[in-house]
Amino acid sequence: MQYKPSFVWILTVLIFSFVNNKTIAAKLHKNDDQTLVLNLFEGQPTRRNGVCGTYDASIYTCCNGALTLGSGKLCCGTTAYSSSLGTCCNGVFTLGHNQSCCGTTAYNPSMYSCCNGVLIAQKGLSCCGTTIYNSSIYTCCNNVLSSGSALECCGTEAYNSLYSTCCNGKVNSGSKQQCCGTETYDPSSYTCCHGKLNRGAKQQCCGMETYDPSYYTCCDGTINSGQKLQCCGKEGYDPYYRTCCNGTLNNGQKLHCCGKEGYDTYYRTCCDGTLNDGQKLQCCGTEGYDPYYRSCCNGKVSSKNGAGCGK
Ligand SMILES: *[C@@H]1O[C@H](CO)[C@@H](O)[C@H](O)[C@H]1NC(C)=O
Ligand SMILES: *[C@@H]1O[C@H](CO)[C@@H](O)[C@H](O)[C@H]1NC(C)=O
Ligand SMILES: *[C@@H]1O[C@H](CO)[C@@H](O)[C@H](O)[C@H]1NC(C)=O
Repeated sequence: MQYKPSFVWILTVLIFSFVNNKTIAAKLHKNDDQTLVLNLFEGQPTRRNGVCGTYDASIYTCCNGALTLGSGKLCCGTTAYSSSLGTCCNGVFTLGHNQSCCGTTAYNPSMYSCCNGVLIAQKGLSCCGTTIYNSSIYTCCNNVLSSGSALECCGTEAYNSLYSTCCNGKVNSGSKQQCCGTETYDPSSYTCCHGKLNRGAKQQCCGMETYDPSYYTCCDGTINSGQKLQCCGKEGYDPYYRTCCNGTLNNGQKLHCCGKEGYDTYYRTCCDGTLNDGQKLQCCGTEGYDPYYRSCCNGKVSSKNGAGCGK
């Protein structure tokens, strides 16, 4: 169905139109910017379910179910407009262009300032949280005002980086210092390990402490005596004497692991995390068995000359 801008047609559709077995009702009214708008409603007009249906886009603009004469306009809610005539602020249309938005209100930025949706009748001010301020006098850091303009922020504090250093939200004296936690330090005398200062420059860190790797091994933040050990969780070990099974140390080299337990396959068999005495057994759940003498029936080991499984 094509809607042509014919006066007779508009009058017809104004009353009721039965097209494609649908009831179409229409309303013709003047928009905020004085253009004519044709609102079409499918079904009963009282239901107000606005739809544009099929229309000629070279003649109309459809805005959320409202047809407006004139193609290629912008939409503001159901209002079609051209940017040279008005401003849309969060779905609310206001006549007059070159305006800024303050919530749903359009305003002239050469006369007003906007602070979190509140208009202030003074231009060129800035907003800090809900407070209006003059940025040539103050600095806003995370919604807190400090004296002095164009400063840097350290958490909610403003500071001048020519004289201070920000360490994790704390302002310290001295420009461009090294930080350890919230403090500054001299890296030619100290090493910072996870926020803790340790004596000595360029040391190796293990957790928050320093250590000498030619005598110690760091395992998961714990210092172990002995250099170049292997790690089993936090414990260092020599793989010549021990085997690590899922974070637990077992005596003996190159053992197989059954859960946390190390074992020798010559003597034992691991079935679903449980150790069974005997080599190369078959598994029935967590139980090992010799298939020559026994069988596995419904997850249980049973005698072979019994009734048998499923019989
Ligand atoms: C509107 O804004 C544009 C761009 O900011 C500017 O070039 C133009 O001069 C302004 N027009 C008026 C009437 O202020
Ligand atoms: C902001 O402060 C500066 C310096 O005091 C002043 O010149 C300027 O007029 C102030 N701006 C406003 C909008 O009050
Ligand atoms: C290793 O230990 C963890 C925690 O005890 C356990 O969740 C995991 O299943 C174990 N993995 C193996 C392969 O045994």
